[in-house]
Amino acid sequence: MGKLFSSLCFALLLVVLAESKSLESKQLKPKIRFNPEGKFKIVNFADLHYGEFPGTDRGRAQDGNSTRVMRDILEFDTPDFVVFTGDLITGDAILVNSTGFIEQLLTPLLNAGYRWASTYGNHDNGIATTREQIYATESKYENCYTTNDGTDLLPGLTNYYLPIYPSVESVGETPVLILWFFDSRGGFDPNGFKPSNVDEAVVNWFITKNAELTAAWGAVPALAFFHIPTIDYEDVQDNTDIPNRDDCVGLVDEAVVPQDRDTLFMQALVNSGTVMTTFVGHDHGNAWCCTYLTLSICYNRHTGYGGYGDWTRGARVVELTEDILQMRNYIRLENGTIIDEYPANDASQ
Ligand SMILES: *[C@@H]1O[C@H](CO)[C@@H](O)[C@H](O)[C@H]1NC(C)=O
Ligand SMILES: *[C@@H]1O[C@H](CO)[C@@H](O)[C@H](O)[C@H]1NC(C)=O
Ligand SMILES: *[C@@H]1O[C@H](CO)[C@@H](O)[C@H](O)[C@H]1NC(C)=O
Repeated sequence: MGKLFSSLCFALLLVVLAESKSLESKQLKPKIRFNPEGKFKIVNFADLHYGEFPGTDRGRAQDGNSTRVMRDILEFDTPDFVVFTGDLITGDAILVNSTGFIEQLLTPLLNAGYRWASTYGNHDNGIATTREQIYATESKYENCYTTNDGTDLLPGLTNYYLPIYPSVESVGETPVLILWFFDSRGGFDPNGFKPSNVDEAVVNWFITKNAELTAAWGAVPALAFFHIPTIDYEDVQDNTDIPNRDDCVGLVDEAVVPQDRDTLFMQALVNSGTVMTTFVGHDHGNAWCCTYLTLSICYNRHTGYGGYGDWTRGARVVELTEDILQMRNYIRLENGTIIDEYPANDASQ
């Protein structure tokens, strides 16, 4: 009994240490805030696929063009924050060492001083690359806010949240917005194949953490980012006529390839009382948004010249106002044109 108790205490101590370590490392970075105009603009880069097999029409020789896309979009939009929604690289095609590809794809952000956070996709790990190695590479940079939940106990790596604070600092301030990142895993690495879903343990972690944050801060509006769409995306796409729905907008040009199992992840987001919109990548031919129960669910836009498909490259951009009543959401194409404003202008419907 005493032994059990002391090992329980020890386990608890480890959890507490791990928690405080993660909080500590988060606090080392400057808080992320709305800008002085009371806005917060996020550019989502999805499916860059650096390091594809050479010699193909989407091979790594094209990576310079992906860099150009990011650089141009950053110049058009000057966001407050950048999110990578997975498949930054094609780990399946990188036989030796992916570090150089990660560093290459970060250059447009590093050169212009942008801050970012990532959630990894099913192609990020591969023959020679684990998620931990990608994390080790990007997290060397001060402007990288990618992290994990702080315990290393959850399946996957990029499961975490980032609070976004008001433009004007005050004593006892609480966040205006929360960004949640979930790891939908998938693919393989030197240790074997990985399930492609957000595991139930992560769903339960979200439910608990979201309740704790809501108790502490009230129901702060939130956005959720992960790579592989859930089966709910497939239901929406297959069972409704997206181009003719008033509450949908955007590209529908490919079957949804969803997570391999329904872990009730989306249900947890629907019931959260905080999450407003979800953003995924993965299916390069889809770049739509629709309402779904309490949420809007969106695909980002294929950004990279790596990865299959010739749909015009671009990025999904969202801009929130500090009072959070408004969220502007659109696709910026690489030539600067804005398309697919969402919600469609006819907001009265
Ligand atoms: C990159 O894009 C430019 C302009 O579209 C094109 O001419 C060039 O061939 C592309 N780069 C490579 C390596 O294919
Ligand atoms: C990968 O390359 C980087 C330099 O680009 C080097 O620092 C690192 O040690 C290499 N990693 C492995 C696992 O070989
Ligand atoms: C940008 O590209 C889109 C899609 O290819 C095209 O419809 C639009 O006319 C282009 N805009 C400019 C300014 O070239």
